[in-house]
Amino acid sequence: MDVDTQLATLREGALAALATAESTDALEQWRVEYLGKRGALTQVLRGLGTLPADQRPLAGQAANAVKAALEDALAARGEALKAAELVEALQAERVDVTLPGRPPALGGLHPTTLVVERILDIFRDLGFRIAEGPEVETDYYNFGALNIPEDHPARDMWDTFYVRPPDVLLRTHTSPNQVRVMERVLRELPRAEANGTPPPVRVVVPGRVYRYEAQDASHEWMFYQVEGLAVDAGLTMADLKGVLVAFARQMFWPDVECRFRCQYFPFVEPGLEMDMQCHVCRGAGCRVCQGGGWIELLGAGMVHPFVLRNAGYDPDRVNGFAFGMGPERIAMLKYGIDDIRLFYGNDLRFLEQFHQAG
Ligand code: PHE
Repeated sequence: MDVDTQLATLREGALAALATAESTDALEQWRVEYLGKRGALTQVLRGLGTLPADQRPLAGQAANAVKAALEDALAARGEALKAAELVEALQAERVDVTLPGRPPALGGLHPTTLVVERILDIFRDLGFRIAEGPEVETDYYNFGALNIPEDHPARDMWDTFYVRPPDVLLRTHTSPNQVRVMERVLRELPRAEANGTPPPVRVVVPGRVYRYEAQDASHEWMFYQVEGLAVDAGLTMADLKGVLVAFARQMFWPDVECRFRCQYFPFVEPGLEMDMQCHVCRGAGCRVCQGGGWIELLGAGMVHPFVLRNAGYDPDRVNGFAFGMGPERIAMLKYGIDDIRLFYGNDLRFLEQFHQAG
């Protein structure tokens, strides 16, 4: 075979092989095979030395032309492969902008928050303002000012956590705010006081309370309360009942029956508990109300003269009523929840059920 034919065959074979090289590795193998030190073309170039001298220049030119052609072809193939890889990468990362978007996961309000807000709305409509007080409370406001002296057996009703014994504790109820609010009203309205007309109070106070208590389906060591307080000249039990029945009718259903029973709380006189008709059997008697037809709803009473006096009001000129309710208890009645521990157990399956409710 003469050199020209040899070169032509080599060129054709090399180009055909190059067309099938699909990767950088394959390209490198191809380069070694054809253009490398021991490659096919190098062999041909080496062989040129054996040609007669007059044929060498032409043959050399032809061989160099093939070399240049193969090098160009290699470069071109390299570029083509790179472009193909890029296209592939782009394809892999392709985003279909016409797909519908994923809606962001919206949070929702906690069932306690929903019920607290509802309670506050109802009392706001009845002319009550909203106030707040500290969760870390003093012994004086939590007990003493509320007519619960140190050795009084009533303290057993509210065992608590002491932050700094014996004076600083986590409040066991929102009732300390009865005294705090009255004090604040008198402090912030000194002119009214000087006029001899102590300003009336109508306030609801939501917040967390704490009890040193073993947990079970109806007891938590932390829960919420909403306290209510009205102080004015000439308030009677009729005002108390009217306000609380109006509340129950809005909170539950319009003709819900309520009843009031005597109950002892040291800071009210008389003291009472309010029951509502059982939400499950509507008074007929069932498992939930244990046959009685009634469900205990809240504690209330006429503010004790001792408490009014502690706060700076004159019990001969004004009187008041107060009440305290548990929003979790109300939520349990309203939504049929049978275990208070669900509220603060952070199980999303429970909490998410209320996301639409708000
Ligand atoms: N503070 C009482 C409790 O936690 C409830 C209450 C409030 C009772 C106001 C009467 C008046 O049990």
